[in-house]
This record gives sequence, C-alpha cells and structure tokens, in this order.
Amino acid sequence: KAIEKIMSSETTPADPVPTEGTDVGGNLNSNNNQDETGKLRLDNTEGTEAMSKRQRKKLLKQKQWEEQRDLRKQKRKEKRQKRKLERLSQLELSNEGNERKRMRRDVVPSTLRLIIDCSFDSLMELKDVKKLHKQIQRCYAENRKALHPVQFYITSHGGQLKNNMNETDKGWVNWKDIHIRPEHYNELMKKEDLVYLTSDSSEVLNELDESKAYVIGGLVDHNHHKGITYKRALEEGVGHAQLPLGNFVKMNSRKVLAVNHVFEIILMYLEKRDWKEAFFSVLPQRKGAVPLGEANDSSKCQLQEKEVAENEGSNSDSD
Ligand SMILES: C[S@@+](CC[C@H](N)C(=O)[O-])C[C@H]1O[C@@H](n2cnc3c(N)ncnc32)[C@H](O)[C@@H]1O
Repeated sequence: KAIEKIMSSETTPADPVPTEGTDVGGNLNSNNNQDETGKLRLDNTEGTEAMSKRQRKKLLKQKQWEEQRDLRKQKRKEKRQKRKLERLSQLELSNEGNERKRMRRDVVPSTLRLIIDCSFDSLMELKDVKKLHKQIQRCYAENRKALHPVQFYITSHGGQLKNNMNETDKGWVNWKDIHIRPEHYNELMKKEDLVYLTSDSSEVLNELDESKAYVIGGLVDHNHHKGITYKRALEEGVGHAQLPLGNFVKMNSRKVLAVNHVFEIILMYLEKRDWKEAFFSVLPQRKGAVPLGEANDSSKCQLQEKEVAENEGSNSDSD
C-alpha cells in the first residue's frame, strides 16, 4: 500500500510523457521558446522545427508586430497631428463664418433704386454690347458686396445683350437681389421718382435722395451718341442730373464715365457720404482724376498722360 502511494504521487500513468521542447498540447516548452514575459520567441530554431504550422505563423506575426512598433508609433503621431490640423482649420472656418455673418449683419440695404436703362441695345455693335455685359456683371458683384446695396434694376432687357448673357453667362437667371425686366423703366416707376444721370445735364447732383429712382444709360458708345441720354430725359420729361465731378475733381479727359463707374460711385457715396472719397476710390488713374487744387502739379499730369496711354484698350467705355 505504501509503495502504491509513492508511485501515484510521482507519476500518473494516464499522463503522457512530455517530449523535449513541447508541452502536453504540443505547445512550446516555456524554457526554450518563451521569454520571461511569456511571449513567444523565434530565435530557437530547434523549437520552431518542432512547432506546428499554426504556431510558426503566430510567431512570425508576433515578430512582425514587434518590428513595426516604431512605424506604428510614427503613424499614431501623424494621425494626431492631422486631427489637430483639422480641428484648427474647422475653427478658422467657423471664425470666418462668424466674420461673414457679422459683416452681413452690418449691411443695411438702401431704398434708392438704381436702374440701368438698356433701351439703346440696337445702337451698339456686338463688341460694345459685350463690354456693357461685363460692366453690368461688375455692378452686380459690387452691389452684392456693398454695405448699403441699392435696389438694382435692369430695364428694357432684351436684344443683343440678353442673347450675349444667355450665350456666355447663363447663370444670370439666378442672380439675386436684382430686377431684370424687359419693360421700359417708365412702365415700372412713377415719373416723378425718376432722375436720369447724364453728364450733359445742367443740374448737379449734390445729395442723393433715397426715395428716387436714378437711371444710368446702358450704353458703350465711345461718345458717338453725344448727349443721347440728356435728350431722352428731356423728351420724357423726367428729372436729370450730372455727378458733381467738377466740384471735386479735375479730369484730364471728358467727364463721361462708364456705366460701372457711375454705379460704383453711387454705392461708395451711400457708404462714405462724401463725393470726393467716392470719386477717388472708384475712378481709375487713367481718367486723370486729380483733386481740385492739385491739378497744376505738372509732374502729376505727365504721369497721368502716360498712364492713359498705357491703359488704352481696357474694357471700360471711357477711352
Ligand atoms: C458711357 S456713358 C454714355 C454716354 C452717352 N453718350 C450719353 O449721352 O449718355 C454711360 C452712362 O453713364 C452715365 N454717366 C456717365 N458720366 C456721367 C456723369 N458725369 N454724370 C452723370 N452720369 C454719367 C450716364 O447715364 C451715361 O448714359
């Protein structure tokens, strides 16, 4: 009995005898293939020979995992930086949005109606119609940006201008805050509200009346049709006025401005309430606009003449 007891405590006959390098389940013997942390090691070739295919794969994967540790660290770092940059740019965008919102909040539309009268379409060559189209696009863009945008009308819209707009800028049908109408302006406005802006008028516009409807002749004519808008205003019996250019500016060419310049001067005046500032921020150098009193400065005049020559061929009508 004593002998039986001793035998059963030393070996159990049912237990398989472990082979060298593997444990009971055919797993690696911890002495050969596992480090002190219990992880599998590949350096024991003897061990790997005795390993199952699954075991070798597992070991290989573990080796790769360890080799790529630095790479993973680097990738994590890059990811963190990328996320940081994304957060920053989102913050910037929302700030920009706030700024734009703030700017839009400051916008106070004027009640002043500003009309471009396009009833002279048949008097223009196609190349000048195209210039007028560009000037109108410019007016539209400036009005959309303005602090005090006007009630913008394009009247007698049709003919060559409409065709050119359809051909080259179909988007005009979606323009916002603008009335593009085929009717003549006198079908849309009360006669007493109308003031035709024309450089030939004897009246000088000193103040803008925001209850009025000011008309700009939609014409690019290189002065071939001198005084045409003044005659139109007289025939129709509507008010007329010229911009007070002569009070503030000495021009080295005639005082006939392009449609978009007149439009922009009105927008700028509504913002600054100062004609001189409006003229000088809008008028191009080539018009030779000099504040009165400085006009005798001969060096300045020479410079302006040179600039006129250099700018010949621009698309404004004032050539
Ligand atoms: C290129 S001009 C057309 C010139 C055309 N021969 C005429 O008799 O009106 C375009 C339009 O801008 C306006 N305009 C130009 N210069 C002006 C000025 N100094 N004062 C008022 N309006 C002006 C007029 O309405 C004019 O019809």
